[in-house]
Amino acid sequence: MAVGLLTEGISEVIATTDHNAAPMGIINRNGSLHMVLFRGSHTARNIVRDRWVVANFVFDPVIYVRTAFDDLPMDAFVSEDIDGTAVCRLRDAEAWAAFAADVERSGDESIVVRLSPLKEEVLGPRLHPVNRGFASIVEATVHATRYVKSRDPWLGRLIEHHSALARKCGGAREREALELLERYIADLTRE
Ligand SMILES: Cc1cc2nc3c(=O)[nH]c(=O)nc-3n(C[C@H](O)[C@H](O)[C@H](O)COP(=O)(O)O)c2cc1C
Repeated sequence: MAVGLLTEGISEVIATTDHNAAPMGIINRNGSLHMVLFRGSHTARNIVRDRWVVANFVFDPVIYVRTAFDDLPMDAFVSEDIDGTAVCRLRDAEAWAAFAADVERSGDESIVVRLSPLKEEVLGPRLHPVNRGFASIVEATVHATRYVKSRDPWLGRLIEHHSALARKCGGAREREALELLERYIADLTRE
């Protein structure tokens, strides 16, 4: 069952909290919305503190790579007022959905957060033909966020596989995202 813009399953969005952006999954099972947040991220820290998060619908592969490993400039964010609470979204999002966020379970390694819809807006939707290059950048980036911590060779092989697909099926923006991803991996795994 869809909840507003979020269809059933896991949507990989760019989550914004207080002037921070990161790719995150939002889980929609039978209309109930959750995030599983690994401890240590700015997103987890901000959500625990402020109890809101915004899902940004973005289709730029470079943004997925950059926000997974780095910060965006302050002018990438704009503020939205929701009943007196200021929340942050990405200026260039095609759509956004804001949620109240309550910690439901708290573990040593992760927390589970339940989301309740506050407001959503479609700003400037464009058509995005299904492209395996874009999907592969998302996949390679997920694996890379784990690889730089674990150096697990299996993750390394998955990154290579998805990088080859991104090269074959993507366009200029996917190739730029791939170069950026390779730089982050090299910088973060240098001895
Ligand atoms: C597509 C994608 C989905 C991700 N989903 C999650 C997630 O659901 N939970 C999580 O804790 N980290 C997730 N990550 C990893 C975070 O984006 C990564 O740890 C990031 O550095 C956190 O940034 P922050 O410290 O600015 O919050 C995901 C990464 C990617 C590329």
